[in-house]
Amino acid sequence: MSPENTGPAAVIVLAAGAGTRMKSRTPKILHEIGGRSLVGHALQAARTVRPQELALVVRHERDLVAAHVAAIDPGALIVDQDEVPGTGRAVEAALEALDAQDPGGLLIGTVVVTYGDVPLLTGELLAELVATHESDSNAVTVLTAVLDDAAGYGRILRAGDGTVLGIREHKDATEAERGIREINSGIYAFDAAVLRDSLAHVTTDNAQGEKYLTDVLGLARAAGGRVAAVVTEDRWQVEGANDRVQLSALGAEHNRRTVETWMRAGVTVVDPATTWIDSTVTLAEDVRLLPNTQLHGGTTVARDAVVGPDTTLTDVIVGPGAKVLRTHGAGSTIGANASVGPFTYLRPGTVLGETGKIGAFYETKNVTIGRGSKLSHLGYAGDAEIGEDTNIGCGNITANYDGEKKHRTVIGSGVRTGSNTVFIAPVQVGDGAYSGAGAIIRRDVPAGALALTVAAQRNAEGWVLTNRPGSISAGLAEAAGATKSSSSTPASTEEG
Ligand code: UD1
Ligand code: MG
Repeated sequence: MSPENTGPAAVIVLAAGAGTRMKSRTPKILHEIGGRSLVGHALQAARTVRPQELALVVRHERDLVAAHVAAIDPGALIVDQDEVPGTGRAVEAALEALDAQDPGGLLIGTVVVTYGDVPLLTGELLAELVATHESDSNAVTVLTAVLDDAAGYGRILRAGDGTVLGIREHKDATEAERGIREINSGIYAFDAAVLRDSLAHVTTDNAQGEKYLTDVLGLARAAGGRVAAVVTEDRWQVEGANDRVQLSALGAEHNRRTVETWMRAGVTVVDPATTWIDSTVTLAEDVRLLPNTQLHGGTTVARDAVVGPDTTLTDVIVGPGAKVLRTHGAGSTIGANASVGPFTYLRPGTVLGETGKIGAFYETKNVTIGRGSKLSHLGYAGDAEIGEDTNIGCGNITANYDGEKKHRTVIGSGVRTGSNTVFIAPVQVGDGAYSGAGAIIRRDVPAGALALTVAAQRNAEGWVLTNRPGSISAGLAEAAGATKSSSSTPASTEEG
């Protein structure tokens, strides 16, 4: 046993079911809430109790599920269930696989069973189940809940003194038993030996022709073992996602809990109902989240930063004191006290330095912007490097794509560019250089130079009266003193 795996002998996560009510080409347990697949949540909870082994039972779309699990939890053992249906058969398959790889030949100790489609179960509740099971030396401990509508669930059968006798599946239950409101969550702690011996005696002799795991309780009791229940008041923790309606309800509840956790940790959330935070996001104290903000993936927001309203960030690192307003961003880093938005699109590889600015209607990609530099309005900066304290004028564009390849633009520090400057990459602009409005920078600009590419302006006098006679413009021009040009090829007037 490795030192970090000091919990139960194994957790077995059941996930062989078809999930037909989802009506999806994606296996049910790969659907996501809170930025994580349903099975990802189940594995996360399982890992919290530090099991020595973790097994996942698959059958439906097994290759897709196995590939996903290999990516998120490579230590989990994938077990294939055969054609025999039922939760009992699923656990039996897992136990056989775990026994086969156990150095002692047979697993001993506590075996926990959970479901791959119950995403709100927490590691804490699982740990409580294991602790009760072990301290009371139970053969089986089942997690139960009392529901107003228990239809469809297995019901907990208790003796007059409250002793747990067993579980009756809804389809096999009498009318009287269907009146019982305490349900089986499908989550249990078992003694490995009791589980192994009992499963050998479970039959498919029931209304569904399945091997029921629930039959183990009665068999364990008959063999003299203690069977007990842990009742949870928190029904969400035992609720499965079977269709898209439940998926959405579980997603909303998951988010409500995540948002509440962050508020208790010192984050201001102005409108919890429109703020969505993935499980994988990290926030600091005194962060403020304004309405309609979605934070996904590995996004982290540092102290005193303000995000929103109307902002979606995926894998974005927001520095302390930064302001990010009406922004759609991914794979980017925003420096301390920098500002972004409104209406800004940060694509991957954007790195904005301290106190820098990417303003309204800007798109950026793969660009490093130094401390204090500002790209304030209307432009595109891609495949570029911009130094410190540089001001990029309105409407500037890095023309990075020649139709086949992308090229880099390198702009120094202390640069001032005129409005509508276009940088035809690859090109470099030295420190302290300027460009005139409308400059098209095709050649490198040395430090301190003013780059101008303006063609001389030509005014064709009277052109409108000659070429747009009778128009509103012509009328107003005439009233302002304009006269018709004498020839159809107008004379030009050079400017400065
Ligand atoms: C099962 C329980 C029931 C409990 C309910 C809670 C049994 C016999 N019944 O009901 O008492 O109230 O869960 O939701 O255990 N699975 C497999 N292989 C199978 C069948 C199921 O891996 O052959 C997995 C499913 O993917 C799912 C879980 O086991 O994650 C439960 O299966 P499901 O069919 O939803 O449960 P029920 O039979 O309705
Ligand atoms: Mg079933």
